[in-house]
Parts: sequence; structure tokens; C-alpha cells
Amino acid sequence: MTDGIALVDILRRLETEALAAVAKASETSMLEAVRVEYLGRREGKVSSVLQGLGTLPVETRPRVGAEANRVKRSLAEALERKSGELLAGAGDTPSPVDLTLPGRRPWTGARHPVTLVVDEICAIFHDLGFTRVRGPEVENEWYNFVALNTPTDHPAADEQDTLYLEASDLLLRSHTSPVQVRTMERHEPPIRVVAPGWVYRRDSYDPTHTPVFLQVEGLAVDDGITFVDLKATLGEFARRFFGEGAKLRFRPSFFPFTEPSAEVDVKRMVTRADGVRVESDWLEIMGAGMVDPAVLANVGCDPERHTGWAFGMGPGRIAMLRYDVPDLRMFFESDMRFLAQMGAR
Ligand code: PHE
Repeated sequence: MTDGIALVDILRRLETEALAAVAKASETSMLEAVRVEYLGRREGKVSSVLQGLGTLPVETRPRVGAEANRVKRSLAEALERKSGELLAGAGDTPSPVDLTLPGRRPWTGARHPVTLVVDEICAIFHDLGFTRVRGPEVENEWYNFVALNTPTDHPAADEQDTLYLEASDLLLRSHTSPVQVRTMERHEPPIRVVAPGWVYRRDSYDPTHTPVFLQVEGLAVDDGITFVDLKATLGEFARRFFGEGAKLRFRPSFFPFTEPSAEVDVKRMVTRADGVRVESDWLEIMGAGMVDPAVLANVGCDPERHTGWAFGMGPGRIAMLRYDVPDLRMFFESDMRFLAQMGAR
């Protein structure tokens, strides 16, 4: 038969042991282990002592019972207190909840990298005196081809390359040049406009082509405008957009609506991986030229009096340079990891 005094001693020893374990606990899971070890209903050490209560003489039972309840309460309180400390981060090791962290902002989206480039191009031309205009994406053959000195049997008007709307002369514009025609029809020179917008071609979908892409058209018509104005204006644009040291190269080319025509390449200063500034390769960014007198005549503008120049550039290609993106398709694929990085710039 166990005697009462011995049981009270055992209970006090268990209490000391358990309180030490609580003090040492550095995670709430450790507290739970202590609770099960001592206060667990069946196997708990304190509970097991109480199971011996029935074998005690009746007069000692209240004392042992009271002591057991005190130990249980003392342990439960210690567990509660320690658990609160751990959760508040006051324990020895960091709590899983860091109340000092700043709040997390939800991702609210950002402007698309190609939109940023279009806006920057238009802003630079705005500073140079150009107004931003728009034209429709569904055009007819007059605006997209004929008025631009391109007969509809010209290879550029080929069904193979152009997206026609069924049984009509309506089509998805294959370039932004029709906005030149619309602008000259409505306004007398002097004209200085830029016209950004979507264009459509039956093109493959590869790293440098997409069947839908953005262009920015530029047009200046006035008295006595020459190719020198074109070179000077585009040169100024290149330095403002790509930084000092940017150079342009005009390669002779052909467009039905400009004469002479050029393809224009840019070379920029770039920072190599080792930090050294070097010149980049040449990269084609636009077509340009002097507005063909036949186009001026088509819109009722006197070619004897007025001259002008035009360009059409590809902001998608320019965004590839600006953001070091190797594949145009990344701009269309809506991968959040890509867009979040780009939008953060
Ligand atoms: N419209 C031409 C194209 O899409 C580009 C261009 C525009 C060329 C204006 C000369 C002048 O390729």
C-alpha cells in the first residue's frame, strides 16, 4: 500500500520536472508533448499517480487529491503562459509569426513593357512637336494600299500576307501607314504626327515575328522638308531613347509610298557583363523615307509645294532591346513571373 506522504512527494517531484520541461520548450509542439506526458488522461504521469488514490486510507485521500489538483492547475497555467510567450515571439527562438514584418501588398498589375515603350516613344516625339493620333484597325484597300501607291496586285497586298474580312475589300491593316493618308486628307500641312497601334499580318509566330504587333508611324509634311530633317529628327529621338552615344544607320531600301526609302538600324552603348561600356551590334528598328509625291497627290496635297517624311517603327523589337528580352513571344504569353519583373522596373 502506497502511503499518502510518499504520493505527495512524488507529485511535487513531477511538478518540478514538468515545470523545467515547460521552461525549456522552444516550440509549441514541445509544450504539447509535456502536456501529454504529465497531464495525459490515461498515461499522463500525474494522472497515473491519481489512479493510486483509491488504495489510500480514507483520511489521507483529500490531502493527496488536493495536492494533485494544485499540481495540475500549476502545470496547466505554466503551459498556457509559455505558449502565449512563444506565439508572441518572446521565446528563445523566433516565433513563426513576425509581427514586425511590413504588410504584403497584393499585386495590382502594371503597364505592359511594350506599352511603356510606345508611350516613351510618343512622349519624345511630343517634345519634338508631334501630336499623337489614331486610326482604325479595320481598313479598306484604299487606305491600306492604293492611296499609299501600292496597287492591289502588288506583292504586299497578297492574300497570303494580308488578313481580309470575308467577301469585302475590308482587311485588318497590315501597317500603320494608312493613318498617314487619313491625317493628310483631314489636315493641311504643316503636319507632325505619331500614330501608334496594332497591325496584323499572316506571319509566323517565332522569336522575332508575331501575326499581331504594334507599330508607331511618324509623319511630317511641310514646306521645304528634306531627308536631312528626317535624319536629324530620328537621330535626336535615338539619343533621347537609347542614351548619348546611340547611332543610326540608314540603309537604302524600297517602300511604294516613300522615295527615297531606307531601313534604319540603331547601335547603342551597352554595359557588358564585366561592367565595360561597349557598342552593341546594329539592329533594324524601322522603315522610313520621303513621302512619295504620288501619295501627296492622292490626298490632294500639292507635291510641287509640300514635301514630307514618314517612318514606321516596331516598339516590340525596341522593347526587346530595352529590357533584354530574347523572344518577342514572351510579351504575349501573360506569364506572371515575366510581367511582374517587367512591371517592377
Ligand atoms: N509601313 C512600313 C512597314 O510596315 C514601314 C514604313 C512606314 C516605311 C513609313 C516607310 C515609311 O513595313
